[in-house]
Amino acid sequence: MSPKIRVAVAGASGVTGSSVMNALLATPETFEVTALARPPSLGKQVFVEYSQQGVIVKSVELDGPAGVVAQNLAGIDVVISCLTLRQMKEEMTLVTAAHEAGVSRYVPSFFGPVCPPRGVMLAREMKENILDHVKRLYLPYTIIDVGWWYQLSLPRLPSGKVRVKEEYSTTQIIGDGTNPWSFVDNRDIGKYVARIIADPKTLNKQVFCYSEMWTQNDVYESWGALTGESITRNPITKEELLQIISEGEAEMAHGDLESAAMLKLGMAQYKYLLGIRGDNTPEHAKYLGYLDAKELYPDIVASSFKNYMNDLFTGNIKAPYI
Ligand SMILES: NC(=O)c1ccc[n+]([C@@H]2O[C@H](COP(=O)([O-])OP(=O)(O)OC[C@H]3O[C@@H](n4cnc5c(N)ncnc54)[C@H](OP(=O)(O)O)[C@@H]3O)[C@@H](O)[C@H]2O)c1
Repeated sequence: MSPKIRVAVAGASGVTGSSVMNALLATPETFEVTALARPPSLGKQVFVEYSQQGVIVKSVELDGPAGVVAQNLAGIDVVISCLTLRQMKEEMTLVTAAHEAGVSRYVPSFFGPVCPPRGVMLAREMKENILDHVKRLYLPYTIIDVGWWYQLSLPRLPSGKVRVKEEYSTTQIIGDGTNPWSFVDNRDIGKYVARIIADPKTLNKQVFCYSEMWTQNDVYESWGALTGESITRNPITKEELLQIISEGEAEMAHGDLESAAMLKLGMAQYKYLLGIRGDNTPEHAKYLGYLDAKELYPDIVASSFKNYMNDLFTGNIKAPYI
């Protein structure tokens, strides 16, 4: 029997992190899992539950010296970051520490839509800055992008039966709503990650994992048909988005990553990328040099968008960040 792959996950309590943790824990014969918890979060129920499932939960201050973080990574094969850009500094430290500890694969927190590296989206450029740091160290890596979550793509229902975190979501029809893009159920992300990190073919490569292609018009139509509710389309034009982007860029000159300006700019750039530029497709991913997870792992069954709609409408799950 081959030895288990020892994996450490930062951001294990978050939405992406939970998807990754669930998938790793589903094959205990393949993975030994460590969760890196920041000290104030150590007592959270999620870490107690991980611990009960055999996860090694370590209290690690990623804001501290890289050398101390590296000690906590001794013997780890793969480090996966599911942090957000608010923790950019912490992720840079984690990269340095992973290098110091000699890990054999680092997965930075990308998990986004297809996007060229520079000049399109600030959020993407910040992620590329992390990758630059990885490459300067010749740290072995894998980039994983996933498209746009189903979970951020449905508008709330007029009845109030389903609520969503509007400010993080594409709850307006962008342009004329006819641009198809790649969607993923965030509950599936972990399934892909578990396969990718065990696969030598994906080392020092980018992999694109998505579930289905939809246009926003079709999404809204299906959501209305399933719920029987009249869904407001509330469109936003290319010109309106460009205006918000230019205001956001001006505000960001004085703002920081925690600021409202960053959220405003970031979301407008995402919407522009998805609905106007149309970057987020498997064809563009191939052009940018990504491997396609559907080709690598044809046996992985992705959840359908209609299944997600149904789960949300029937109250099986809640939209994230609520
Ligand atoms: N493709 C898409 O549609 C899409 C949508 C959303 C997000 N994403 C991407 O997915 C990735 C993860 O985002 P997410 O929304 O899943 O994250 P999230 O749910 O907000 O979770 C963030 C995680 O970071 C941890 N954390 C926060 N501050 C920390 C610190 N100082 N030190 C250590 N850990 C800290 C949190 O842990 P505690 O608070 O428990 O300590 C939590 O586990 C990002 O790259 C994001 O851009 C993609």
